Amino acid sequence: MNVLLTGGAGYIGTHTAVELLQAGHGVVVVDSLVNSHEEALLRVERITGRTVAFHRVDCTDPEAMRAVFAAHDIDAVIHLAGLKAVGESVEQPLRYYRNNLDALLTLCEAMDGAGVRHLVLSSSATVYGDPETVPITEDARLTTTNPYGSTKLFAERILDDLATADPSWRIISLRYFNPIGAHSSGLIGEDPQGVPNNLFPYIAQVAAGRRERLNVFGDDYDTPDGTGVRDYLHVVDLAKGHLAAVGHLADASGHRVYNLGTGQGTSVMEGLRAFERATGSPIPHAVIERRPGDIAVCYADPGAATRDLDWKAELTVDDACRDAWRWQSANPNGFAG
Ligand code: NAD
Ligand code: WQD
Repeated sequence: MNVLLTGGAGYIGTHTAVELLQAGHGVVVVDSLVNSHEEALLRVERITGRTVAFHRVDCTDPEAMRAVFAAHDIDAVIHLAGLKAVGESVEQPLRYYRNNLDALLTLCEAMDGAGVRHLVLSSSATVYGDPETVPITEDARLTTTNPYGSTKLFAERILDDLATADPSWRIISLRYFNPIGAHSSGLIGEDPQGVPNNLFPYIAQVAAGRRERLNVFGDDYDTPDGTGVRDYLHVVDLAKGHLAAVGHLADASGHRVYNLGTGQGTSVMEGLRAFERATGSPIPHAVIERRPGDIAVCYADPGAATRDLDWKAELTVDDACRDAWRWQSANPNGFAG
């Protein structure tokens, strides 16, 4: 198949491109590079020995998106393009709603115009808010606490309505839990711009000496060691989840939603210790007050993805820490060189 990856130069997009190419698919990437570097796609080509067709295009540009579909015979689309920083979305809600929802709507119109109606959407566990029970199943209550999360929830609802109106659409939304790690080659990985918001890229920069210490946001949660618990999923397992989803679109109907997680919860301190095992050195840290808006526990029931998509996470948090450390050590300045 020829698969279009929007946001394909990003963290999850590059790892997904590698898995698609190594499975024999063709890959076309559309990315504005607002939060990534074209170098990442050159690394994808180096890993796979395959070429990637790249268009530096903003998904909110209707004419440019139509031109991409005119230039390639696309069989399916994986829509990863989007702004994803929760805190930034609170400060800049209009930018997030415009970018994330306009990109989706413009993409779907370009797809419809080209007769391409097989779509995988990048969604997020953030649509569950503070879960009532764990592990979380796909029929859990949906509630969001920030504009970023709302863009994901609204995107899913738009696709519900689209699939209802036109049964020729085959759509799968993947609710990612917490992606971590890097490709084992050390050539691609997470390359946060500025101060990392997320736990593991921050730990990696402390381990590399770029940050003084990890601030642990609270140890008074109702968890075994008092620190926050999340479902950390190796980004290569996540990428393989997209390969599985694309492979099941043809026999799908309507709009289906799947959790992609390991089904296991890991605390902040457990994650820190795993990273220390990967580096062989202690990582400076201190417990400070909770981060506003944080929840105590969030981890997936991935059973539906296993049943319907024949997908299951295979790699561990320790695997992810070793791969993240290899990437961080070999690329202290990310793709900027
Ligand atoms: P990322 O920022 O590395 O990748 C997103 C890519 O989209 C970037 O390359 C960026 O340049 C591009 N982009 C953004 N807006 C665009 C636009 N209008 N047109 C074209 N390109 C655009 O982030 P990521 O971690 O790879 O996330 C990919 C997707 O997964 C996002 O939709 C994100 O919301 C979602 N997600 C990420 C996480 C996570 O923790 N990383 C968790 C759940 C969901
Ligand atoms: C994980 C745990 C923190 C940083 C976010 C987004 C979500 C999704 C994934 C896009 C928490 C603790 C963190 C630090 C810490 N992204 N922590 N010190 O908040 O679960 O989810 O990323 O969809 O939308 O909300 O991930 O990595 O920020 O935090 O103690 O410097 O680590 O309190 O318990 P989170 P995170």
